[in-house]
Amino acid sequence: MEISIIGSGHVGLVTGACFAELGNGVVCVDNDEKKIEILRKGEIPFYEPGLEEIVRANVGEGRLRFASSIPEGIKNARVVFICVGTPALSSGKPDLSAVEKVSKAIGESLTEYKVIVEKSTVPVKTGEKVEGILRRTVRNGVEFDVASNPEFLREGSAVKDFLKPDRIIIGVSSRRASSVLVELYEPLCAPILITDIKSAELIKHASNAFLAMKISFINAVANLCDLAGADIKKVAKGVGLDKRIGESFFEAGVGYGGSCFPKDVSAFLHIANEMGYNFTLLKEVEKINHYQRERVIKDLEEFLGELEGRTIGILGLAFKPFTDDVRESPAIDIVKMLQDKGAKVKAHDPAAMNTFSDLYPEIGYVSDPYEVAQGADALLILTSWPQYHYLNLKKIKKLLAFPLIIDGRNILDATKAVNAGLYYSSIGRGKLKP
Ligand code: UDX
Repeated sequence: MEISIIGSGHVGLVTGACFAELGNGVVCVDNDEKKIEILRKGEIPFYEPGLEEIVRANVGEGRLRFASSIPEGIKNARVVFICVGTPALSSGKPDLSAVEKVSKAIGESLTEYKVIVEKSTVPVKTGEKVEGILRRTVRNGVEFDVASNPEFLREGSAVKDFLKPDRIIIGVSSRRASSVLVELYEPLCAPILITDIKSAELIKHASNAFLAMKISFINAVANLCDLAGADIKKVAKGVGLDKRIGESFFEAGVGYGGSCFPKDVSAFLHIANEMGYNFTLLKEVEKINHYQRERVIKDLEEFLGELEGRTIGILGLAFKPFTDDVRESPAIDIVKMLQDKGAKVKAHDPAAMNTFSDLYPEIGYVSDPYEVAQGADALLILTSWPQYHYLNLKKIKKLLAFPLIIDGRNILDATKAVNAGLYYSSIGRGKLKP
């Protein structure tokens, strides 16, 4: 099938490349000409394992092409996916201006029936808006359908998530549109749920809000574990073994970050509010998430007293491992709080030092985790990169000016840390002395 993707960011490019990999003819469109030039050369402007290989292969086979204008990009497409950004405004409300602009341009260029699919994460009822814009702009007699097909890709495993999804949600208002989209997705052999458009839109926000809630819940329980002297890892395992609850997304730590959860929780709250429902549960989810950052500073102060003049080493700047993305990363808030208290910061991350230095050029960046420990008054682990799981703790102890590790991702073995002569504090496994 010929398809077109409007917006060649993380979601758009993964979607386009994977549909091409499945044998479809795909044109990825973006208004950023520089980005299109980079993509035409077979390069990827961001980090996503496995993506470059399939982009190159499918460009080579002629199934994946790029365009910088919507009329050219959608000419032959049967399905047009809208994958442009929907960033949060300062009020938390999602900014739909890019979706609206693109919908207008699609409407003006439409010459024959196409299914226009919103894939960007949008508030419920955006489908109605898109349809209204298309109706106002499209030429007389040209037919179209609007559909909602939310994505559930995680950064770092987006290609795998696309090709092996748990489910595919297709929100439609006509049989014609559903049969086109079912035909497109059938090769993935995944469960397909057909719904109306509004339900599909809600499924996306509700899914991300639920996962964020699960993380905040286990973080709150971890804080209780610290007070009670229990072990959050055992508690999470014991609770998660109940199939109704499940063990995944149940790891306590410094909280969630990234380009989706914080934005989607705040957008969902905003949407609920606008519709007249006060979704207070989500306010607590956000509060707990923020508290997880604050508690790291409180824990540090408990061991070190005033932080003024102290040097704090940070391992992990990305919002999660296997990405260079630092958007809404816990490290951003924690560095800010440390600086406000007069502490000096040095840091290491295997992939995200460049992106982080755009925000904080003044902190010390070092290329080796042990260099972070050298002379520092404490070491904070904020991202669970595999290389931090197996640090030589005796060596760390010798390098630190004060032998303290605050393990914000619960990745170290507490007994080994204590035996190496370290003070060891984690999230929900107590504060241990050597
Ligand atoms: C998320 C959703 O998982 C995905 O379905 C959606 O399409 C986009 O948003 P992503 O932002 O890539 O994906 O990251 P994810 O792997 O879900 O992690 C989000 C954050 O939660 C990270 O900061 C991670 O460290 C944190 N997290 C995750 C926890 O703190 N504990 C957990 O148990 C799981």
